[in-house]
Amino acid sequence: MKGESFPFRCPCAATLLLHYNHDNKPVLSPLTLLARNGFGGWKSRTTFVLALSSSAVGLGNIWRFSYLTGEHGGAPFVISYLLCLFLIAVPILIAEVVIGTHGRGSPTVAIRWATDRSLLSRNWMVIGVLACFTGLLILSYYTVVAGWGLAYAGFMASGVFAAASALTVGEHFGDFLASPRTLMYWQSLFLLMTVVAVSMGVRRGLGLLVWIALPTIMVLLGVLVVFAVENGDIKAAQEFLFSVKLMDFSARSVLVALGHAFFTLSVGVGAGITYGAYAPDRIPVGRSVVAVAVFDTLISIAAGLAIFPIVFANNIEPSMGPGLMFVSIPYAFGNIMQGELFGTLFFALVVVAALGSAVALMEPIIRVLMQHLRRPRFFCVLVVAAFVWLLGFACILSFNIWQDEHWFGTWNFFEVLDVLTADLLLPLVSLLTAVFVGWFMRVEIVRMELYREARLFFWLWRFLLRYVAPSAIGVILVAAGLRFYS
Ligand code: PFF
Repeated sequence: MKGESFPFRCPCAATLLLHYNHDNKPVLSPLTLLARNGFGGWKSRTTFVLALSSSAVGLGNIWRFSYLTGEHGGAPFVISYLLCLFLIAVPILIAEVVIGTHGRGSPTVAIRWATDRSLLSRNWMVIGVLACFTGLLILSYYTVVAGWGLAYAGFMASGVFAAASALTVGEHFGDFLASPRTLMYWQSLFLLMTVVAVSMGVRRGLGLLVWIALPTIMVLLGVLVVFAVENGDIKAAQEFLFSVKLMDFSARSVLVALGHAFFTLSVGVGAGITYGAYAPDRIPVGRSVVAVAVFDTLISIAAGLAIFPIVFANNIEPSMGPGLMFVSIPYAFGNIMQGELFGTLFFALVVVAALGSAVALMEPIIRVLMQHLRRPRFFCVLVVAAFVWLLGFACILSFNIWQDEHWFGTWNFFEVLDVLTADLLLPLVSLLTAVFVGWFMRVEIVRMELYREARLFFWLWRFLLRYVAPSAIGVILVAAGLRFYS
């Protein structure tokens, strides 16, 4: 906890910590470096990049990407998602990491540090609060779906789906969702795994987890893609993912693509700020984030190539919604040689990927509580876990007891959380972050944090952050809002 009392309340003292060298370039003062070391982050740059990657790769790449692509017409959705990812989400994630590497604290404290040094109002800290709140909401339904993954790994291993018909697999999923007790059991188990990982701390918990999780994900996914190419209809999958058909694509699809770009890159929940705060000094922030985005996209496409050939080879409807993965995969694997083994591997992949992301969702709020309440990590983890567990329970009920309760005419509670976070809160937090870093933070400070990047890179990034990202998010939000109320 040493060093966590930073930043100072007095802006003058804070400003003193920014030094200028002989060329009048801003550099870190020895005092700042001392404070940073006290925050206790990762020692290696690779761990930082792996941590950002493991926060990015998760259910979003495997479960959400596949069903959204299915619902929104395939290739046009993929193209708009890629545009949103690289033109909007990447610049904003770089901005988040800049706040983190500069402020070296939880999202709220890091933002306070930045406001003090730029002589701005501390009201900007609301970004940190909103980000953590959004993360908490996402985590509550995220743990529910990850729990399904855990359950299905068990079902596959026990051979429940051997030679089952599509109807039987569909009914099995229906029965599974109908039992709140079963769902609660699996959600609690997954939440417990997350609690253990987060309680172990930044180095031994997160640092170690990411070194194990990412190689595991890559090996499992590689095996599954080869399997799907050999056993599925790869042509139909390619056609679906990479050829333009505008039938199911609408204006709302653009908003969904934007929300998914934020979701998949873990932008807007304070994870970038928190992991940036743990990063070692002098990292090339911009290049690292771009590399993470490319890696994340490759994983999504690989996951699509692992899922859709199997979906098409078995005549399953790609637009069936959130259940897609939990019906198509068990059915398909249940009907092929060695399918049990590969099916189990598939759901193991889902769980490992989800764990890295769940940890990233929980860590920012844990940091906020630790810094503001000054309580030990384990206490804060328990408080957050209790909240997530309760909210997760409400999500679970929306699949059975509250099945007929609909908010805004269409959505159950689970969908409300998904839509509220991905389509509204993530874009909103991201918009505020873009405006804060792009328009208000002192440009010398920002440049100093990105000093490893070329001038052209910095210029391009700042242009995207100041003009492209806010206007695109604004237009998409307003357009979707107007459609919603019309
Ligand atoms: N990026 C994760 C996924 O694609 O599943 C979801 C996520 C993780 C969102 C961590 C936000 C976050 F902080």
